[in-house]
Amino acid sequence: MEWWQEPVPNLITVVPGPRSRQIIERDNATTSTSYTRDFPLVVDEARGLAIRDMDGNVFLDFAAGIAVCATGHCHPDVVEAIQAQAQKLIHICTADFYSEPVANLAEKLCAIAPGDSPKRVFFCNSGAEANEAAIKLARYATGRPNILAFLGGFHGRTMGAMSLTASKIRQREGFGPLMPGVIHVPYPNPYHPPFNVPADQLTDKILKYIEETVFKRMTSPEEVAAIFVEPIQGEGGYISPPDDFLPLLKSLAQSHGILLVVDEVQSGMGRTGRMFAVEHVGVEPDIITLSKGIASGMVLGAMVARSEIMTWKRGAHANTLGGNPVSCAASLATIKLLEEGLVQNASEMGQYLLSELKAMQATHSIIGDVRGRGLMLGAELIHPDSGKPNPQMRDEIVQHCFKKGLLILGCGESAIRFCPPLIVQKREVDIALSILEDAIQSGS
Ligand SMILES: Cc1ncc(COP(=O)(O)O)c(C=O)c1O
Repeated sequence: MEWWQEPVPNLITVVPGPRSRQIIERDNATTSTSYTRDFPLVVDEARGLAIRDMDGNVFLDFAAGIAVCATGHCHPDVVEAIQAQAQKLIHICTADFYSEPVANLAEKLCAIAPGDSPKRVFFCNSGAEANEAAIKLARYATGRPNILAFLGGFHGRTMGAMSLTASKIRQREGFGPLMPGVIHVPYPNPYHPPFNVPADQLTDKILKYIEETVFKRMTSPEEVAAIFVEPIQGEGGYISPPDDFLPLLKSLAQSHGILLVVDEVQSGMGRTGRMFAVEHVGVEPDIITLSKGIASGMVLGAMVARSEIMTWKRGAHANTLGGNPVSCAASLATIKLLEEGLVQNASEMGQYLLSELKAMQATHSIIGDVRGRGLMLGAELIHPDSGKPNPQMRDEIVQHCFKKGLLILGCGESAIRFCPPLIVQKREVDIALSILEDAIQSGS
């Protein structure tokens, strides 16, 4: 049996073991001090949901490199596509020349993007860069300067994307002045509703706030190019808005000639049990931004826009490495796997994990909320007496799970996110849940 098929997790040394410690020391001396590195894990190899460190310890991966490795680590079909393409052509600046994998992927993304309008694709290298492209395109296409984004939103860390981001202050402090023209609006978080309105009135309240406060006191709607929104806030806490929110936000935007930019960098590519999260509520965005799960971990970002909008002049926007043929080949193999069963599996396993987490919530009062769609699920840790978020407890649970060999990540103020590879099976969900249960019992 191969190491990744043996019972996972399997910890054989104290983590970090001696070989890992050496790497950590060398790395800490020379890499950016801005990396958070919450776990002393030095990854040597990974396959499926199994990750092996330098000392032979095997972890169960429910983080997927932050919702990236949709097809699991090193899926044989993806590896084969990468190898075949790497032997033929690794780079040929897509801004200057054509190549088959780029044309194939552009065609595929246009075909699967939500809605019937014809589309075009701009390729780049990350989620932040896809959002930078969307900021530029929205301003260019509308001739308007301002942008609305949501509190708690995360769109990346480059200057424009960071200006839209309003998740954690650490991500913004020290970097100002930020891009002007951005106005942040409360996100309809049903568990911590802004303006203290009941969840069923949230959409109405937020849209009224935009119409009556933002558009009457801060900017005229005629000066707004775009509204950027995550269909499920990721970094902000895996928060799902009410179902009517995105459709009505789209109508509001449309009525003022404002573009709706949906950031599906984290929620896209099958993670929520549909190819794109907006499909759950039947919305066609004007622009959609993608990265993370798009190429199983190969470097790639994409902005897909309605052709009507993407008419900027030759040379108006480009880059050197975006649309790398090897990344595009990996992406095509990834999308094939998603279509051939992984999106469906995300839906089924997501429902199972959600119901088990809800059952856990019923017996543990420290779990205040369980939410999300497909395999983009969050559980929020609270102080049971006050109902207030409990980030310390969340961090302890995440670290406890790590010590038992389960990789999970936090998000928002006090939530745990569950975003395993979409190949996850019931057996692995059960193992993860039993480690989580153990962590909660030893902490609560
Ligand atoms: C919704 C969303 N948008 C954009 C980004 C930025 O992507 P990247 O880190 O690839 O720049 C992220 C990253 O977490 C994200 O979750």
